[in-house]
Amino acid sequence: MKVFLNDRFLEAREAMLPIGDLSIQRGYGIFDFFRLQQGVLLYVEDHLARFRKSAEMLRLEVPYNNEELIKILKELSELNGLTDAGIRMVLTGGDSPDAWQIGRPAFMVVQQPFVIDPSPSEPKAIRIITHEFVRDLPEAKTINYSMGVWLQEKVKELKADDVLYYTAAGISEFPRCNAFVVNKNGEVFTPGHNILEGITRKRLLEIPGQPINIRRITLDEVRKASEIFLTSSTKRIQSIVSVDGLQVGNGKPGPVASLLLQKLLEAERHYIQSRH
Ligand SMILES: Cc1ncc(COP(=O)(O)O)c(C=O)c1O
Repeated sequence: MKVFLNDRFLEAREAMLPIGDLSIQRGYGIFDFFRLQQGVLLYVEDHLARFRKSAEMLRLEVPYNNEELIKILKELSELNGLTDAGIRMVLTGGDSPDAWQIGRPAFMVVQQPFVIDPSPSEPKAIRIITHEFVRDLPEAKTINYSMGVWLQEKVKELKADDVLYYTAAGISEFPRCNAFVVNKNGEVFTPGHNILEGITRKRLLEIPGQPINIRRITLDEVRKASEIFLTSSTKRIQSIVSVDGLQVGNGKPGPVASLLLQKLLEAERHYIQSRH
């Protein structure tokens, strides 16, 4: 598999970072992740905008403009012969003389084969636990997922699939997904604070005819919800049927998540067709 590092394409095994890079020494850096689907870079404009926003928040300079970035992304996909893949674009804190000052960022793009069901009929049902935590600089897509990685074992031990972060201010997000809650009246809510603004979340907020309120959501509201679901580029929408061992609604994916999944798929198909 080929990757792009700084200014060239090379074999993944030949791609090296200086040992003083702040990403290694301090976990300092940002990235973005999106799908190449049927040869189309899905919602690439949104992902590039978020990549730039994350970089700016961490005071890192992106070494290419958007046109150049898209050219690199397309060329890499061609070199790897992939039409369906996950693409990870990373900007590190750079080589640092004292493992503290920000250096000149290293920029890389890596791909992994990733094929997603083009038309799932229902959201997948999953179980979650909760954990009190907020990420550093949560509005940025930083590379620091220590808590999420560390929690994997606890999630598995408790026979769950994922973990929802919360603080005294309410729930925020999952390690790699955004959260949505539907109350008994069918009203849909999503938190707007201490979160990364997901691109899938953005697509849901744009769906006509389905108002979604951005507001604080307490853990108590989560426990009383008729539906809870998560969104991300890789998972689209998954329905949460149990929280900390307590059943949600009737224990099956609910009608709001099912409908929104179909609307999301429609938007995806429309985007892909418009780019072919
Ligand atoms: C912390 C966090 N929140 C939310 C998301 C979902 O964002 P998107 O829909 O753009 O994949 C991600 C994606 O990886 C994430 O890392």
